[in-house]
Amino acid sequence: MKRQFLNLGMQPSANAFLRDDQLSEETLFSLRMGYDSKTSLVSLMEFRDKSSLFHEEYVYISSASRTMRDHFSKAALEFSARFDPKTVLEIGSNDGVFIDNFADRNTVAIEPCENFAEMTRGKGHDTISDFWNMSTAEEVLQRYDTIDLVFAANSLSHIPEIDEAIRSVARVLSDEGIFIVESPSLLNVMKNVAYDQVYDEHAHILSVTALAALFSDSDLEIFDVENIAVHGGSLRVFAQKAGANNGTPNSYDNVASAISEEQSYGLDSYDAYVQFGLDVERSRDELSSLLRSLKAAGNKIVAYGATAKSSVVFNYCEIGPDIIDYISDTTPCKQNKMSPGVHIPVIPPYDGGIPKDVNYAFLGAWNYESEIMEKEQDFVARGGRFITHIPSVRITP
Ligand code: TMP
Repeated sequence: MKRQFLNLGMQPSANAFLRDDQLSEETLFSLRMGYDSKTSLVSLMEFRDKSSLFHEEYVYISSASRTMRDHFSKAALEFSARFDPKTVLEIGSNDGVFIDNFADRNTVAIEPCENFAEMTRGKGHDTISDFWNMSTAEEVLQRYDTIDLVFAANSLSHIPEIDEAIRSVARVLSDEGIFIVESPSLLNVMKNVAYDQVYDEHAHILSVTALAALFSDSDLEIFDVENIAVHGGSLRVFAQKAGANNGTPNSYDNVASAISEEQSYGLDSYDAYVQFGLDVERSRDELSSLLRSLKAAGNKIVAYGATAKSSVVFNYCEIGPDIIDYISDTTPCKQNKMSPGVHIPVIPPYDGGIPKDVNYAFLGAWNYESEIMEKEQDFVARGGRFITHIPSVRITP
């Protein structure tokens, strides 16, 4: 049974950027997170309806940043070299930024958002525009005997029925097949007080401890774990059928040390989550008072990156357009809309970077801090400063 440890109040859907004519239709829901002591899985107390989140107007594009494009092409090269799969299936293939790297293999793209499914179909990938579950798995098996590599980056954690999703992977996997999951790491979320990873699309925040428990119910075992930098610190977990031999050197030591690190931080006990809840309240109070005092002193403050994460922060900390003039974002379908809940205007980035009249920019996309710093050297050189709440509230550089 889930026990609540975090309450982020009434929140809008974090990626639901609004046109003017949609403002009056916006609805809020109670955003709360809980801990299940049986599996150590951390999940939303109440899941949202998937079809209201992932649909033909979904806005998040995986290839919007150079960091993610580079990350996925490097990942594809590594997986090809290590496992040489003949058939690759991706759960949540978005615009194809990962699967496009397997043009010479059999590829299956699973993507419930039709706007993105059309893109991978157009590029020749066998695409199923649906949610990943047992019936999608059966559809795959009508076309392919088995799948050698299943990849789920930032998608397994989006599926409320995570047990069925894992069982469905086990159903399609070949005997020596590999299941690779990438997801923001719960350990990093807790260490960095990154409460803004908690939003309606993230049904769960994953740890190796919880995945090991969930996988074993489907006779899958984790044989390797890597820590990767993306999304503020993510896990890459490699699983296979229990007892299978994938032909690469055994890395069970990585799994044991990842689990022991999580457990020494207390991820398998409720107390650590209670402490996290207190850290989150402190972070909120500090950010709110910093932004309000800078504004009261006459500074112009904007935000950089209209992320789902920034929606959570602004709504939880009650930061609106009276404090942040606008949010700039490179994603066309977020531009010229209002941010969810607090309704801060979202605009395209200015040519030449952050304009001269801006004193501070809140890093909505804090997970791309180095890419942004590199791009905005002129802003910093003339005295502009960034504000972030990760890992603690601070002005940088
Ligand atoms: P994410 O943190 O969920 O990946 O979203 C990043 C958002 O930030 C995405 O909407 C693109 C935007 N962005 C910018 O506007 N400028 C940038 O330089 C970077 C790296 C991202």
